[in-house]
Amino acid sequence: MKKKEICTVIRQKEIGDGIFSMWIQTKNIGKEAKPGQFVSLYSKDGSKLLPRPISLCEIDRENSRLRLVYRVTGAKTGTEEFSRLKAGDTIPVIGPLGNGFPVEKAEGKRAFLMGGGIGVPPILELAKQMQCEKKQIVVGYRNAQTFLKEEFEAAGELYISTEDGSVGTKGNVMDAIREQKLEADIIYACGPTPMLRAIKQYAEANNIECYISLEERMACGIGACLACVCKSKEKDAHSNVNNKRICKDGPVFLSTEVEI
Ligand code: FES
Repeated sequence: MKKKEICTVIRQKEIGDGIFSMWIQTKNIGKEAKPGQFVSLYSKDGSKLLPRPISLCEIDRENSRLRLVYRVTGAKTGTEEFSRLKAGDTIPVIGPLGNGFPVEKAEGKRAFLMGGGIGVPPILELAKQMQCEKKQIVVGYRNAQTFLKEEFEAAGELYISTEDGSVGTKGNVMDAIREQKLEADIIYACGPTPMLRAIKQYAEANNIECYISLEERMACGIGACLACVCKSKEKDAHSNVNNKRICKDGPVFLSTEVEI
């Protein structure tokens, strides 16, 4: 159940160029949150009426705390304003939002947990909670700024790709699984659309159950802007296509359910 709360910043740190990690204290959001869900943060700038969605990187349910890792998207943006928050500052937050990853489906299976770019952070809480036979975390970065690497190493078998080849496999996450000859029975992925499209094609060609989070395509996270509409394979009675709103019906979908 989504609720709006005034949350308090516990601490904030820049962990890569323009990538910030912020822990916030919530009243109840953190107690209910699941991996793959997100929250939406309100700006104090009155010209920005709609909040900005940010995915959950870590969840401390016991203390109702959340770790948000996000990229500042430019000057005068909501994310730039959030990046200036310090310990003790407050921020209105709504959440938890979205459906989250079906973690339990990986039980007894060999899993790929794949993240690219700013789709990397939600893979961390997923990896921490997942109980499976083989937990293969495959994350892709632009360069040697491999934020969250230590946390991933503690959570499972880690494989890294970088676009410039400075760490791990040169290329993307698909290049990493080919180079390392990795195999899986189930895939969970979050990242930019071209990466998710490649993973969806690979999963369907190899008949692998695959869940993708389309969260990068969201703008408000609360169903108000319609920026996140995508085509679904399910057809309704009135038209040939059935559109889904990523923030309301997702952000996680079975790969065969959506066209991307
Ligand atoms: Fe705004 Fe879905 S992100 S309606």
